[in-house]
Amino acid sequence: MAESKLVIEGGHPLRGELTVQGAKNSVLPLLSAAVLCDGDIVLERCPALSDVYAASRILTHLGCRCRLTQGRMEIRNTGITCTEIPETMMHEMRSSITFLGPLLSRSGSCTLYLPGGCELGPRPIDMHLHALRQMGAEIHESHGMLQVQGRLRGAELHLPFPSVGATENIILAAVLARGQTRIHNAAREPEIRDLADFLNACGARVSGAGTDTVFVQGVDRLQGCTYRVMPDRIAAATYLAAAAATGGSVCVQDCCPGDLTAVTEVFRQMGCRVYSHENRIYLQSSLPLHAAPYIRTMPHPGFPTDAQALLMAAHCKARGSCMFEETIFDSRYRHADDLIRMGADIRLSGRAAVVHGVQRLSGTTVHATDLRGGAALLIAGLSAEGITELTELSHLDRGYENPEHVLRSLGAKIERIT
Ligand code: EPU
Repeated sequence: MAESKLVIEGGHPLRGELTVQGAKNSVLPLLSAAVLCDGDIVLERCPALSDVYAASRILTHLGCRCRLTQGRMEIRNTGITCTEIPETMMHEMRSSITFLGPLLSRSGSCTLYLPGGCELGPRPIDMHLHALRQMGAEIHESHGMLQVQGRLRGAELHLPFPSVGATENIILAAVLARGQTRIHNAAREPEIRDLADFLNACGARVSGAGTDTVFVQGVDRLQGCTYRVMPDRIAAATYLAAAAATGGSVCVQDCCPGDLTAVTEVFRQMGCRVYSHENRIYLQSSLPLHAAPYIRTMPHPGFPTDAQALLMAAHCKARGSCMFEETIFDSRYRHADDLIRMGADIRLSGRAAVVHGVQRLSGTTVHATDLRGGAALLIAGLSAEGITELTELSHLDRGYENPEHVLRSLGAKIERIT
């Protein structure tokens, strides 16, 4: 595919309303869950993202039929005909690992490979494998290949860390397993709740999702259903951060304000006015912003790691200094180099980063190194003087549906050039 770039003329405050896309991090495990369901599944508000296409290619390879048209993903599962996911497909994204639980549970044996995904430091899957072993899986690992077999049974599981992916994989493995599974120290992210709601709509019995203890009572079969994917809280945070950084005012419609309180609290500390009403968030910003003193990423309901880069970009021109502490991933400051090239004053030290606000950023050519880092550079470009060219858009396209279209509708001057 030809290399494309976004060309951004900075300095235009974002104003207006937007409707947020469906959540990438929810729809991906829902697509994995399709392996478990007989018949037809319809996912409404399904975003057209390269990761979604990668997941639907895996489903097609496994024997399902998938079609995405205008936000509606239709999947027909008349039987899984293949139990190996090729290495190239596994490498396309990290969340391909959530096919492991359902594929094993459905077929009794499968072959997968270690997943790919954003480079945020080492991303092991030891918790996924340990839990599946406790549920009766025999797993043979060699040279990145995972050969797995076993009839799964419910188990009492304790996660050493509330991993989102491991919690999802276990729930997906447990819904058709014999007996009861309890996950202690489960991830509490809203996407876990969405997965449980979807599975329950298909006939599963999952309770406690969204708390630190999830309980699954195995059932014999699941039937497809029609389900509306939750709104993407990180995409919402991205557009709010862009409005904050440009001194704009926007209303994000069709989102869940309750899922974003840790983020909206930071915008308030920065001097923005933020109101939420039912499923809308309004943000009004006037420049200069003030630095929030300290942002520490934590599992939900703490400040999300996925919003760290976004808020770092919004802090580049804020008065004062903000200290970031990234506690979830080892290497999630790769956007800082390009922010510094645009004029930001950022000092990195291990898991800490300190941003000292500067008067101005200047546009230049920058490269997305991962999904949220790319979004951070986009935000910086919108608030910089002059022209910013953002390249390596494949990272951005994994998680944002047509961002230039959304931003243009808010008054940004931005074009995609192929
Ligand atoms: N971890 C392990 N062993 C495991 C699993 C995780 O050590 O078996 C570690 C990871 O290396 C990491 C931490 O635990 O340091 C958290 O990982 P987690 O499993 O919670 O993350 P994930 O499931 O790989 C999802 C999202 C990420 C998001 C994180 C944290 C999806 C597809 N991805 O990843 O989203 O940052 O949860 O909230 O749901 C993004 O959207 O840009 C993104 C990276």
